[in-house]
Amino acid sequence: MLHTVELIPGGRRFEVQQGESILQGGLRAGANLRYNCSNGTCGECRAKVLQGSVNQIQYHDFCFSAAETAQGCILMCSNTALGDLRLAATELGAVADIPEQQLTAKISKTEFPSDDHAIVHLRTPRSQTLQFLAGQEVHVRFAEELTCRLPLANCPCNGLRPQFHLRRVHGDPLSEQLFGALRNGTACEMRGPTGDFVLREETEKPLLFIAYETGFAPVYSLLEHVIALDWQAPLQLIWLADDERGLYLKNYCRSLQDALDDFTFSVAELGDAQNFAPGLRESLERQTDLSRYDVYAVPPPEQVAATRTALLGLGILAEHLKIAALETI
Ligand code: FES
Repeated sequence: MLHTVELIPGGRRFEVQQGESILQGGLRAGANLRYNCSNGTCGECRAKVLQGSVNQIQYHDFCFSAAETAQGCILMCSNTALGDLRLAATELGAVADIPEQQLTAKISKTEFPSDDHAIVHLRTPRSQTLQFLAGQEVHVRFAEELTCRLPLANCPCNGLRPQFHLRRVHGDPLSEQLFGALRNGTACEMRGPTGDFVLREETEKPLLFIAYETGFAPVYSLLEHVIALDWQAPLQLIWLADDERGLYLKNYCRSLQDALDDFTFSVAELGDAQNFAPGLRESLERQTDLSRYDVYAVPPPEQVAATRTALLGLGILAEHLKIAALETI
């Protein structure tokens, strides 16, 4: 059985399954809810019931005052909906709303889709969830002298399991050292999030995502978030890489193309990063409606200016364009 929750004053609506916490239902639907521990300790997920009733589904340490309880204050992580609900709760609306966090996590799994690419899965302690907006990045300290800034490559709905995509740069001592440190159980420290390469949710426009190699990581996070939001406008992804190995999640992208009604996906192999802007121009030059799109592009660092020039020259509006240079280590 599903119950609808409406957040006041924002008006966001989402569904909560029977027995599921209101927080889980909201995060699954892409709501940027305030939360931290998910287990009833921190009080960050507090909301006030304006209409409807809830049922507590887990014990919580956090205590409301008698006055707050009388006013209908609840914890969204510890309650489910017993029927349709209206809650007073504000969402995180902007990057500035997200506090800087510092937490320790461990590597729980590393996948190697190619010899030179790694998908690293971390696991935070149960009571510490990393809160971020899709498209943001964090500083990760894998070991002494081994700190890098990396985009998060997962949906913000799963802050207990941050993911990162890494590319091995042969001959770069830091990169080789990092690949050598990818062992299950290795402790990492995270600080952040930072960055404003985040979705403009207020305009439900067609979206064009452009990524070079592991620049796909923040795009993956944005795509997962957009899918959770049930975005109604068309989605397009262009992924460019030096060669086939750099398109390391191509099958995932193809599965999206099969599953989503209005998602198009194309790839281009460039041979070299310096061909990024010309290759991108070639991919888009026959497309006539680009001024309709909000565009999120992650080019190689040395191609940022050329990419901007190419995209503006193709008719994309400057105010609809966000560019983040690919983070390299
Ligand atoms: S998220 Fe900490 S109390 Fe709900």
